[in-house]
Amino acid sequence: MGNDHLDLPIDPTSRERLAADGLRLELLDVSDKQAFAAWTRAEARGFHGPQQTDAAIEQRHGYSIDRRITGVYDDSLPVPEEPVATTKVWPADLTVPGHRAVRSWAISDVTVAPTHRRRGVARALIEAELRTAQAHGAPIATLTVSESTIYGHFGFGPAALARDLTIDARRASWTGPRPAGRVHFVNADQLLEPGLALVERVRLATPGQIAYDGVLWDRQLGMMVDDEVAKKQRHVRYDDENGQMQGWASYTLTENPDDFTQHRLDLLHLVTATDDAYAALWRFVLEMDLVSEVKAHLRPVDEPVRWMVSDFRAVKVAELDHLWIRVLDVPAALEARTYAASGRLVLRVTDPFEAGDGCWALEIDDAGAATVSPTEEPADVSMTIADLAVIYLGGTSPRVLQSAGRVHGDATALDAMFRSPVAPFLSIWF
Ligand SMILES: CC(C)(COP(=O)(O)OP(=O)(O)OC[C@H]1O[C@@H](n2cnc3c(N)ncnc32)[C@H](O)[C@@H]1OP(=O)(O)O)[C@@H](O)C(=O)NCCC(=O)NCCS
Repeated sequence: MGNDHLDLPIDPTSRERLAADGLRLELLDVSDKQAFAAWTRAEARGFHGPQQTDAAIEQRHGYSIDRRITGVYDDSLPVPEEPVATTKVWPADLTVPGHRAVRSWAISDVTVAPTHRRRGVARALIEAELRTAQAHGAPIATLTVSESTIYGHFGFGPAALARDLTIDARRASWTGPRPAGRVHFVNADQLLEPGLALVERVRLATPGQIAYDGVLWDRQLGMMVDDEVAKKQRHVRYDDENGQMQGWASYTLTENPDDFTQHRLDLLHLVTATDDAYAALWRFVLEMDLVSEVKAHLRPVDEPVRWMVSDFRAVKVAELDHLWIRVLDVPAALEARTYAASGRLVLRVTDPFEAGDGCWALEIDDAGAATVSPTEEPADVSMTIADLAVIYLGGTSPRVLQSAGRVHGDATALDAMFRSPVAPFLSIWF
């Protein structure tokens, strides 16, 4: 995709808005290590993180060369080189239904210092990113969120949900398949290349995944110098009968000081390319000696493991919003994915940001490919741009949103078109 996103100028509208408030919106020159260090300290503080060590800053610098980083500076402060607000973006392919990807503008590290909150700084930053994404030709912006109350203000909607599972390991006897391949321990270094290759191999199978490498991959392996959890992280891989790696899992164990037979296992990552790998790695996790509870973090909503243990109620599920998207170009976004049913519908989309506002004729052929054009015709179905994001990957049914009073009109036809055989899911935070 190249690095042309680095050359786009800073958004003039937000720059002027912030200047009127005595603040300076700047693109960070990542080659300026001192400025990068100050930015990194501010970003970590924004997320209530620890003080950044020199080693941690140096490592993060190495990952940031292809990132577009912005800061908002207040020159009246005693430490003016530390920004009062931060963002980091990059173009990342987002998987959509139909084993395809669409270019997305991935936004992360949005922070505003507690000293400068609630005076429109985040709005200025995010709107700047949305306009810059449009200038870059990205039809969609993506992010994962600390709080689910923030990004609806900017037309984002939760497009992929996720689940955390809490499993009573003593009740969850394994009833699933017992594949013939082999699970074995590996260290993080041994996973660097084959693990990422596996992630890439399965990326287009699940709508909602984004392409990742660099820090996003190394973090999964526990390779960040300041990562306390990583000290406990263990990795296993599954090789099929031909010795081919088909899956990988990583976990930590935490002792119960009152009872050594009641460790907790936290399953941090599980990536599999085959059903056998999935079964073998889950069985490995659930049959671990001295473990009474397994907590699996950030798992898909259509996780099969509940159907592979003796007691359905051994698996408790907590659901959360995870991947939020913002549609910036309705025709390009809708044409990027494929559909489950043919037909023609006129969609009325309301968008205060104007990016997607209007009536759109969505025409889907027998192969599931869409053509979208603006139209003056009366709408068959209407929704906000945020709710278009919610249904876009097929994760939430338009019928459900209709019952919730959010989609109006022929939601049944829309439902038949937009559904996805694979629930959308994003396996990382970014
Ligand atoms: C969340 C955060 C970025 C907001 O920054 P801010 O500059 O105070 O936000 P703004 O003043 O620009 O507010 C923008 C809009 O979002 C709303 N908003 C801001 N923070 C909100 C929150 N935590 N919950 C609900 N709404 C919020 C505001 O009410 C405002 O709405 P409006 O413009 O429609 O009236 C900031 O509080 C922060 O850095 N928090 C800690 C880090 C974090 O959570 N970052 C988000 C990462 S995903």
